[in-house]
Amino acid sequence: MRCNHVGYRHFDTAKIYGSEPALGKALNEAIYMGEVDREEIFLTSKLWGSDHHDPVSALKHTLKDLDMEYLDMYLVHWPVKLKPWVNYPVPNEDDFENLDLGTTWAGMEKCLEMGLCRSIGVSNFSSNKIEWLLDFANTPPVVNQVEMHPMWRQRKLRRTCGEHKIHVSAYSPLGGPGNAWGSTAVVNHPIIQSIALKHNATPAQVALKWGLSKGSSVIVKSFNEERMEENMGSFDLHLDDEDILEIEKLDEIKIMRGEFHVNQTTSPYKTIEELWDDEI
Ligand SMILES: NC(=O)c1ccc[n+]([C@@H]2O[C@H](COP(=O)([O-])OP(=O)(O)OC[C@H]3O[C@@H](n4cnc5c(N)ncnc54)[C@H](OP(=O)(O)O)[C@@H]3O)[C@@H](O)[C@H]2O)c1
Repeated sequence: MRCNHVGYRHFDTAKIYGSEPALGKALNEAIYMGEVDREEIFLTSKLWGSDHHDPVSALKHTLKDLDMEYLDMYLVHWPVKLKPWVNYPVPNEDDFENLDLGTTWAGMEKCLEMGLCRSIGVSNFSSNKIEWLLDFANTPPVVNQVEMHPMWRQRKLRRTCGEHKIHVSAYSPLGGPGNAWGSTAVVNHPIIQSIALKHNATPAQVALKWGLSKGSSVIVKSFNEERMEENMGSFDLHLDDEDILEIEKLDEIKIMRGEFHVNQTTSPYKTIEELWDDEI
């Protein structure tokens, strides 16, 4: 697997991405060839909304698809529960059920107890939803994976998660420039470009180093080996106080807004503001 040759050790997948079988095959080949040990890999997958009624069965299915014995991290993908047959990324109007987070989380805790995963967490949770979960969780989430980049800085959520020792992991750390739903706003921003020029670095390296400087892990995606290497180079970049202050002043834009989880009929979220508890 080429990214393994570049040196990546953290792999982020999800049932709904359809990437579990291919990723598992590549990782198992690398392990079989002695290029890496299982213990040196950090493997994350996610519970889709249609599996909230039975996280244990869902995770067993994920492990079968990955051909792995355990995950390092299992996340609740969205605070959204869907009808059991909704195995597609954009739910229809009548596909939603009321979210009983207590039951979902008890299932996640069961996954942990059974040794199917080594840690559990959430994704796309606002500060309010984190506080709600902490009200009843026996095992608190260790991670909240959310959109985070220089133009969506998550100040409030980082404070909330920090108070509860929950690691914030940054998805779309470049703003998803090549994705159909993504944006080039971050990598093309003149301030990001001028900071890059100043340090003889690239805009992507500036964006990734900004996320790392906030203590987050940055889940960047590339299918291109040169860009994978470039993105690894962000570890060597040093951003000074002036750079960080310049980034703090950038306008904010949320790229993954999650409109597909909002409707006036079956979704518990009637507006985008309800989905994110006004953190948008
Ligand atoms: N939990 C969630 O709900 C959620 C949501 C979205 C994403 N994620 C996770 O986060 C990962 C990354 O998110 P993402 O793909 O949305 O965003 P991203 O990593 O910000 O952007 C990926 C895009 O940027 C391009 N790219 C990569 N390196 C680059 C560079 N150095 N310069 C310019 N362009 C570059 C890639 O194109 P090339 O391939 O051509 O390099 C790709 O199209 C996903 O794979 C997924 O695992 C999670």
